[in-house]
Amino acid sequence: MFQKILVGVDGSESALRAVDVAANLAKTFDGRLLLLHVVQVSAIAEEALKISATAHLSENPKGILERLSQDVLDAARERGRRVGLTDQQITTLNADGDQARELINAAKRRKVDLIVVGSRGRSRLQGLLLGSVSQKVSALSPCPCVIV
Ligand SMILES: Nc1ncnc2c1ncn2[C@@H]1O[C@H](COP(=O)(O)OP(=O)(O)O)[C@@H](O)[C@H]1O
Ligand SMILES: [Mg+2]
Repeated sequence: MFQKILVGVDGSESALRAVDVAANLAKTFDGRLLLLHVVQVSAIAEEALKISATAHLSENPKGILERLSQDVLDAARERGRRVGLTDQQITTLNADGDQARELINAAKRRKVDLIVVGSRGRSRLQGLLLGSVSQKVSALSPCPCVIV
């Protein structure tokens, strides 16, 4: 039933718990995980380029963002492995843009059976019960959506 499962990861503990749930489902259904990390590269890189121009940073800001994104995806993949999935069962993906919109786009384009996200992410807005990405994804999801 849930053969292709998309998980949104952002480096938060909440998202890693979402990976744990998704990985267990993938194992149960003999399916696979698509781990997606969305970064607003163009927006962030533009700001960083301005800073790096004055601070004489040696590394290209885009390169730094890509490395950070790779770390987020590596940590998520490791959680999937720990649940017992093989590397062939886990695909990591990047996207540039609005987090929720990119998750929805990927779900449609890749025809996934389920989206899994954490209830919270990295922001410190304690007042919100549910993060804005989880709210938007659950409202617009083309398929069943689990919020962990
Ligand atoms: N940049 C992102 N890329 C992919 N998934 C994300 C991203 N940001 C958040 N998510 C997903 O949405 C969940 C909720 O995060 P979010 O709504 O941003 O909460 P918060 O407001 O606490 O940051 C995360 O646990 C993760 O599953
Ligand atoms: Mg967030």
